[in-house]
Amino acid sequence: MPKPYDPRDRFYQKAKKEGFRARSAFKLDEIQRRFHILRPGGRVLDLGAAPGGWCQIAAREVGPKGFVLGIDLEPIPALPPPARTWVAFPYDAVLSDLAPRTSGIHGVDEARSLELAGRALSLALQVLKPSGALVVKVFMGGDFEEFLRTCRRAFRAVRVVRPEASVARGSKEVYLVCQDPRPESQAGFGSSAEPGSASKQGA
Ligand SMILES: C[S@@+](CC[C@H](N)C(=O)[O-])C[C@H]1O[C@@H](n2cnc3c(N)ncnc32)[C@H](O)[C@@H]1O
Repeated sequence: MPKPYDPRDRFYQKAKKEGFRARSAFKLDEIQRRFHILRPGGRVLDLGAAPGGWCQIAAREVGPKGFVLGIDLEPIPALPPPARTWVAFPYDAVLSDLAPRTSGIHGVDEARSLELAGRALSLALQVLKPSGALVVKVFMGGDFEEFLRTCRRAFRAVRVVRPEASVARGSKEVYLVCQDPRPESQAGFGSSAEPGSASKQGA
């Protein structure tokens, strides 16, 4: 039986107390503690970043020599350094917590979520370093298994993770932690470009 949705659960309270913008920060925090995908000096692209909880965790992990670019349809209040607004690739990590506005119709929401996850995967293969990692949110159900197979064809290591903060919410969301893109899946994208070789400020 799924847990009833409580928008002010213990992760919400903890986020407030510790100064995180969203309870979702603890999902990435758990993924980081388990898989160490973010490293000091790393470049991170955060898709679906508002209000900025994941950016806060990523910025903490990459430190002053790294940078984090957060993208969303909604405004993201200014973040402290090293989160910046410029475009440069390749990236060490692409994070996607993208979620469609829910329609309430299960099948439709699952399909939209998978479509966003597919776009994140495709972008990640274009901008990740050969040693890079993708963390992407997906909802179980629908074509989830097919998407998982697609990720496994594109990356050498793919783990399905359900962070405590997702379990606590009774959500069907899981995160795929994908590491080591296969060279053939990146072929033609030019992702092995030197850092900064395609950088554009002010984007
Ligand atoms: C679950 S929230 C992200 C929370 C964020 N990770 C944090 O920790 O603060 C999902 C976000 O995905 C964004 N989103 C949905 N579709 C998008 C799209 N096509 N392009 C950019 N952002 C999108 C939504 O606006 C929303 O802010």
